[in-house]
Amino acid sequence: MLNFRRKVLLVVLLALSFMLLKRYFRNPAELRLSDWFNPRKRTDVITMTDWLAPVIWEGTFSREALRKHYHTQNLTVGLAVLAVGRIADKYLEMFLQSANRHFMAGYRVIIYVMTESHRMAPGTNVKAARSFQVFTIPDDIWWHDPDIVRMKTLGKHIVEHIQHEVDFLFSMTASQIFQNDFGVEALGLRVAQLHAWWYFKDAKDFPYERRPTSTACIPFGQGDFYYDGALVGGTPLEFLDLIDVYLNGVANDFQKGLNSSYESHLNKYFLLNKPTKLLSPEYNWDSSFFPPPQVQYIKVAQHSRRRV
Ligand SMILES: *[C@@H]1O[C@H](CO)[C@@H](O)[C@H](O)[C@H]1NC(C)=O
Ligand SMILES: *[C@@H]1O[C@H](CO)[C@@H](O)[C@H](O)[C@H]1NC(C)=O
Repeated sequence: MLNFRRKVLLVVLLALSFMLLKRYFRNPAELRLSDWFNPRKRTDVITMTDWLAPVIWEGTFSREALRKHYHTQNLTVGLAVLAVGRIADKYLEMFLQSANRHFMAGYRVIIYVMTESHRMAPGTNVKAARSFQVFTIPDDIWWHDPDIVRMKTLGKHIVEHIQHEVDFLFSMTASQIFQNDFGVEALGLRVAQLHAWWYFKDAKDFPYERRPTSTACIPFGQGDFYYDGALVGGTPLEFLDLIDVYLNGVANDFQKGLNSSYESHLNKYFLLNKPTKLLSPEYNWDSSFFPPPQVQYIKVAQHSRRRV
């Protein structure tokens, strides 16, 4: 009898610990920050925000500790890229090839290409390990605001299938190019990109939306950083929340005859919903500027926006 009870107890305990283990492995957030991140390794830059979110600079994180953790998980990471018009002609192929080499190397990746319907499905010569999906957007996108079309399209696809396909999602533009390893150190619930130019400037000069009637307004004296709209990351559901708030903000402003940019709305969103992880300017360096000593290892370069 006792023996039987013991056995039952053992089975229950085993099941319980298995559930805990599963929970642990299913939720990447359970990796402790101190296990892989050391803010004191870089004293020349901001490595931790006031709300204790890490700012990822080369040298602050351990690739080995991250690899050990994330390789036990069956992780899929999505990368959505908008490529239309001349930017697609010029850069899409390069973007995809560089993503293939450097974006989340060693992990399952799905690249979602948002492009016009007349454009052929790209990526005929890319590694089979990487999967692609192409979404078409209206050919006359330039008549509309491309950011609104992009976010509407992405939101629709997140609801319909992306949320079931990936654990994390990043959104970029084809005018960027990966130059070095962009790995799991960048994963997080809400991931914001520090703007390469404005990071080194005075906060009072940030080009936030200042018109008080706009939903995106950030008054002088407020705001944490200036975030770059070219790269955003997070879980699919957090992404959906951002898209929802953005589209509602745009609709609100439209009724008042205002048209704040996507980046202004994004900056407001991250003021109210603090990012859980920030990427240093190394993750989106503007190639028209010579990097200062703080920028040691450029992961992504942005073709100069002025030349496109
Ligand atoms: C890993 O994930 C993929 C895609 O989500 C799925 O097809 C596969 O069955 C999963 N493998 C395990 C061991 O869970
Ligand atoms: C807002 O509209 C004005 C006037 O039509 C235009 O010049 C400006 O570029 C627009 N701004 C944005 C962010 O779309």
